[in-house]
Amino acid sequence: MYNVIEPVNRYKHNKTLLLASAKQELLYNNIHHDDTDRLKELGTKFLRTVENGVTGAIYRGHNPEFNEENRKLGNDWPGACGHTMVGFVRLNNIKTVIEDTLARSVPGDFMELGVWRGGSCIYAAAVYLTLGVQRNIYVFDAFEPISGYGESSDYLAVSLDQIKQNFDNYGLLESNIIFRKGLFESTLKEFASEYPQTKLAILRMDSNFYDPHMHSFYYVLPFVQTGGYLIFDDIVSHPAVAAAWRDFQAWHGLAYELIQLDHHSAYVQITAPVVPDFSRWS
Ligand SMILES: C[S@@+](CC[C@H](N)C(=O)[O-])C[C@H]1O[C@@H](n2cnc3c(N)ncnc32)[C@H](O)[C@@H]1O
Repeated sequence: MYNVIEPVNRYKHNKTLLLASAKQELLYNNIHHDDTDRLKELGTKFLRTVENGVTGAIYRGHNPEFNEENRKLGNDWPGACGHTMVGFVRLNNIKTVIEDTLARSVPGDFMELGVWRGGSCIYAAAVYLTLGVQRNIYVFDAFEPISGYGESSDYLAVSLDQIKQNFDNYGLLESNIIFRKGLFESTLKEFASEYPQTKLAILRMDSNFYDPHMHSFYYVLPFVQTGGYLIFDDIVSHPAVAAAWRDFQAWHGLAYELIQLDHHSAYVQITAPVVPDFSRWS
């Protein structure tokens, strides 16, 4: 229980009491200091819960399929237990780049293109919340089966209603979570022309194929602010993604060095605005 603090100005004509009130003010500040520490502790615990929830690690010991190493590196799909394919290493990268962009005052929001059950975006929303910062979280996906996935297409298709439910299950379905349904080959161009002033601090791409990545580079990457980050979920393991980035870079005279995270993922820090040259893309 905290002590009740008297208002300070009540003692202003009495020296002894002034001293006492100064002491109380100190105590008051300390209490606030303690509150801040307590809030930080709660934030850390909440984030850990969300991290364990979205990865499925919360079912350690109960889910016979749970494998610590695979979940750390995002080498597996979490079956029924979990909301992201991304493992601990890539989640930690999301946290690190959010903290870094905020510390350096890079303006802009967080966007993921290709979200499956939404777990990475849920985690990003939790990180911003625990840091006490409001940013939009753009959650873009087809939210329905995609032919290119063959036999996995039903597993990979998660409805928009279900994703919203997933956010809500963590208490994170707020007005700053912005969903857009449809194939990137049409939604990204539409979005860019509707919201040309968009600023992104972090763009995470996870759509596996060449064409959606190329649309992402042309229509959304230009929104990433200098000092912000472009994260590829699977450029190391997916040749089509690497080819799209290689072509886009060649056409624009870019030569970013990838910073590798695990066997799938890598990221770059954007050092200058990307100005798309549409003459290079048919
Ligand atoms: C590998 S999953 C994303 C995993 C997710 N980032 C996570 O944290 O678990 C790929 C997602 O990209 C979406 N996707 C792939 N190609 C797409 C396209 N052309 N347009 C829209 N969504 C696409 C799929 O629907 C699927 O949800």
